[in-house]
Amino acid sequence: MQITQAKFVISNSDYRKCPAPVLPEYAFIGRSNVGKSSLINSLTGHHELAKTSSKPGKTQLINHFLIDSGKGNWYLADLPGYGYARASKSIRRSFPAMIKGYLAERKNLVCTLLLIDSRLELQNTDLEFMRWLAEKGLPFVLVFTKADKLSTSQLLLHLQSYMESLKEYFEEAPQYFVTSSQKGKGMDELREFLAANMGYAITTHS
Ligand code: GTP
Ligand code: MG
Repeated sequence: MQITQAKFVISNSDYRKCPAPVLPEYAFIGRSNVGKSSLINSLTGHHELAKTSSKPGKTQLINHFLIDSGKGNWYLADLPGYGYARASKSIRRSFPAMIKGYLAERKNLVCTLLLIDSRLELQNTDLEFMRWLAEKGLPFVLVFTKADKLSTSQLLLHLQSYMESLKEYFEEAPQYFVTSSQKGKGMDELREFLAANMGYAITTHS
């Protein structure tokens, strides 16, 4: 899938105000600072699209981007990072309700891409989130980020043990992608996945 155009549409704190659910949509989510905005920029080839930051907690709204892929238009939703300890209490509290409301109600959502830092062991917040998605029957895949920060052998070992620890909680291991926004690693695979699943939009949710 070639992404020919990508543009910011709107930011919202309320899923009911998001763009009309008339196009297939993919949501990007993960712990704060996991590299969501960088991944979105690398994936779309538009390096100024999502604001990146070395300070965690930059993205605090549901940000919609309209993507023209040549295979049709779709929405990309950049969701707020969760687990950001330094965000104010009221912001932290509003994250789960806002995110869960969006994910549970968004009719055109094809799949959630849950971003995980390649260097980290399975974190409770991520596991809780995966379990919530699975309980709700919401499709998700894992996207390991910042793969360039590990050597190839470290990465392989780490991923093996990460996926092994998930076996305890899931009968079927989720599909996963290994990426580096800095090196462009895994972007072709991810774009192919998005293109291949676009057709499942809208009809997958009742
Ligand atoms: P919030 O919106 O604040 O939650 O952060 P985010 O998840 O959008 O992360 P962002 O893309 O802003 O990246 C956070 C930091 O990680 C920045 O300093 C990035 O430069 C760095 N980073 C992101 N992706 C990569 C990567 O693939 N490799 C390396 N080495 N660094 C990365
Ligand atoms: Mg961000």
